Amino acid sequence: CGIVGYVGGQSAQDVVVAGLRRLEYRGYDSAGVAVLADGSLAGAKKAGKLVNLEKELKERPLPAGNTGLGHTRWATHGGPTDANAHPHLDNAGRVAVVHNGIIENFALLREELTGRGHDLASETDTEVVAHLLAEAYSSAGDLAEAMRQVCRRLEGAFTLVAVHADEPGTVVGARRNSPLVVGVGDGEMFLASDVAAFIAHTRSAIELGQDQVVELHRDGARVTGFDGAGAETREYHVDWDASAAEKGGYASFMLKEIADQPKAVADTLLGRVGTSGALHLDEVRIPPHVLREVDKVVVVACGTAFHAGMIAKYAIEHITRLPCETELASEFRYRDPILDARTLVVAISQSGETMDTLMALRHAREQGARVLAVCNTNGSTIPRESDAVLYTHAGPEVAVASTKAFLTQLVACYLVALYLGQVRGTKWGDEIRAVVRQLSEIPRQVEEVLGTMEPVRELARTLADRDTVLFVGRHVGYPVALEGALKLKELAYMHAEGFAAGELKHGPIALIDEGLPVVVIAPSPRGRSVLHDKIVSNIQEIRARGARTVVIAEEGDEAVVPYADHLVRIPAVPTLLQPLVATVPLQVFACELATARGNEVDQPRNLAKSVTVE
Ligand code: G6P
Repeated sequence: CGIVGYVGGQSAQDVVVAGLRRLEYRGYDSAGVAVLADGSLAGAKKAGKLVNLEKELKERPLPAGNTGLGHTRWATHGGPTDANAHPHLDNAGRVAVVHNGIIENFALLREELTGRGHDLASETDTEVVAHLLAEAYSSAGDLAEAMRQVCRRLEGAFTLVAVHADEPGTVVGARRNSPLVVGVGDGEMFLASDVAAFIAHTRSAIELGQDQVVELHRDGARVTGFDGAGAETREYHVDWDASAAEKGGYASFMLKEIADQPKAVADTLLGRVGTSGALHLDEVRIPPHVLREVDKVVVVACGTAFHAGMIAKYAIEHITRLPCETELASEFRYRDPILDARTLVVAISQSGETMDTLMALRHAREQGARVLAVCNTNGSTIPRESDAVLYTHAGPEVAVASTKAFLTQLVACYLVALYLGQVRGTKWGDEIRAVVRQLSEIPRQVEEVLGTMEPVRELARTLADRDTVLFVGRHVGYPVALEGALKLKELAYMHAEGFAAGELKHGPIALIDEGLPVVVIAPSPRGRSVLHDKIVSNIQEIRARGARTVVIAEEGDEAVVPYADHLVRIPAVPTLLQPLVATVPLQVFACELATARGNEVDQPRNLAKSVTVE
């Protein structure tokens, strides 16, 4: 998650560990460091917080050296243990490497390496890189060249930093997707996943481009493509202060996390479909025949994750034709739900530690049901106690109000639905691939939405002095309405309610009077057009009673235009996937409105990121 590399005149260990501290805000579950000293490599790594690593370094000091690297890890492949922490070394202990991202073809590479006599010690995808680098170095005799050769063999998303004991005074980095920045000092150079790590030493930086390799020495950097061709670089001045640097220049973690959503969605999809077209989860401890015999699915979760669960119901029933219920974990656990060995309970939780969700899971298992967790935190309690797990790869979420975790939970729920369809034989390779292909368009489409948010922000500012905002939607737009209202409650401390549009006449419409803002999530006019027709009448009804309508509608939907006081366009996507694009303007809206009211968006009053008490 956080990467630091250093070569210069100072103690590499001190610079690296201090840099890791500055990257702590990114969240992590283990940390490690390695330095080059007297022609050999020495390192330490520890699960848990940085203090564990610091304690270890104090008890067993590393020899002093001026070249080194370090990492804070957020587990993806393999749990958060000492052994799985980075750096990873090759068998001879000559190469050390740290890595962010997911190497999709690691299983294949691992097999190859084992076949050639390598002994792999951890469960991580990173370790294969250390071994491949050692091999490549022994023929190339040059670390940057070895890195280029290895990168050409890797699939997926990765940012790597490596050192070799035979090249003291060199640090090599490579980038595909996740960022890597060079810090240019005076007689010293830094590499980090963001500038926060080295801002105390230098404000001169070079951002690596896609598919580039950088070779650092004390007195400079050389950048090439993966193919070895020289690359242009541009040095720039970082004028952020240290706290803005942590947020990548954004005013809050929430804004940063909203902006990170395209990547979070793409990462959650990475490596899910094998070459045979089969979809896989991260962990499955349920025998296939048991999964095949599942006759009911129950989704449990709290807060934003519950809204993802509500949308999961639409997807699971549509795709698998299995009955599916979604329930608040806090209600489920104190009911007497009817469950048996043929029930599959899906527990959704970003943190994996929410007490009510955990208790609901235990309640379900006691009655013989199997539990599948959708979770963003590897090694947390909920996935550990579940029978199967699909990890979302949103990366750590720092802001209390959930944004990127929600989008990835939705992606995960669609994948779970497809997986169940696959196991039960109702969905096959091509159908699965088609949905995954549609999903893989989503990052670009979310990016598109993010690029058009200025009018939404402007609107939010004009509504900052209101008391109430209502949200209505139908079908999967209904949970989106609930999520839009929840965001506003959490962040703006406003009265906000979400309703199913069909319920308007059964009560909520009595709330509407002159000028009340009502946000309407309009379903696509394509596909289930009856839903769209209904919402058009709903908009007319509320507008006739004086509401100020804010309509979120797909590109090309002209029918809503006459009734929209404010129109927010979203890209046309398949009906079931619409929440992935429709939620984004609501996040931006709530964040901006809260800011206009002078609220602290990352840490709203009275709320906690993870509710581990009842
Ligand atoms: C808290 C957070 C919410 C989150 C909910 C469930 O209320 O403030 O953002 O949606 O807990 O958390 P979980 O970690 O289980 O997804």
